[in-house]
Amino acid sequence: MSATQDLQINLLPWQQQVWTDKSRFKVVAAGRRTGKTRLAASLLLVKALSSKNGKVFYVAPTQGQARDVIWDMLLEMGQGVIANSHVNNLTLKLINGASISLKGSDRPETMRGVSLRYVVLDEFADFKPEVWELILRPALSDLKGEALFIGTPMGRNHFYDLYRPDQTDQTDRQKDRRTHRQTETEADTQTDRQADGQTDR
Ligand SMILES: Nc1ncnc2c1ncn2[C@@H]1O[C@H](COP(=O)(O)OP(=O)(O)OP(=O)(O)O)[C@@H](O)[C@H]1O
Ligand SMILES: [Mg+2]
Repeated sequence: MSATQDLQINLLPWQQQVWTDKSRFKVVAAGRRTGKTRLAASLLLVKALSSKNGKVFYVAPTQGQARDVIWDMLLEMGQGVIANSHVNNLTLKLINGASISLKGSDRPETMRGVSLRYVVLDEFADFKPEVWELILRPALSDLKGEALFIGTPMGRNHFYDLYRPDQTDQTDRQKDRRTHRQTETEADTQTDRQADGQTDR
């Protein structure tokens, strides 16, 4: 799709691996400052561009946090494919009629009653776990939408339950889910190489 080619997307090797994974639900457990949110921004733009008039959500623990970490990043990366942006409701309209909205998991009532093509749950460890089961999972079911869970491994919580390495019970609900783990050291090396102009693509 030509609009997708207008995006300036330059991924680190680990981000590329997540990108090419075809699983419906992806889990990324990676260290601080490894590029998790930037990967999310790239995927949000591409998923929205491939679904005419579709809706995608980026959800952070609070909407303020969502705005702080990804609004400017989306505006910059989406130059050329954004038709208009509404900072008052934190929604971007793309040239194909699709929209990207930024939401907070602390306000589940603002996410009810929509059909979504794609959702990113960033800093998922800080969500109330029921937001996924009760609100976002049902919002994806009509259109068989996809989801990306992002978090930094820290302690034992519902995010740990999602990505944990010793998980062996592949129940039906987990079959279409794939986990990617990235250590800070690996990501640092990749970022440094990229800063030095040595890209892998
Ligand atoms: N593919 C990339 N190319 C160039 N810079 C990148 C890339 N991915 C990430 N970065 C840069 O690395 C920094 C961290 O990125 P990002 O905010 O996405 O990381 P994060 O893992 O979400 O961080 P945090 O742990 O704070 O949530 C940013 O300055 C971002 O622009
Ligand atoms: Mg982040």
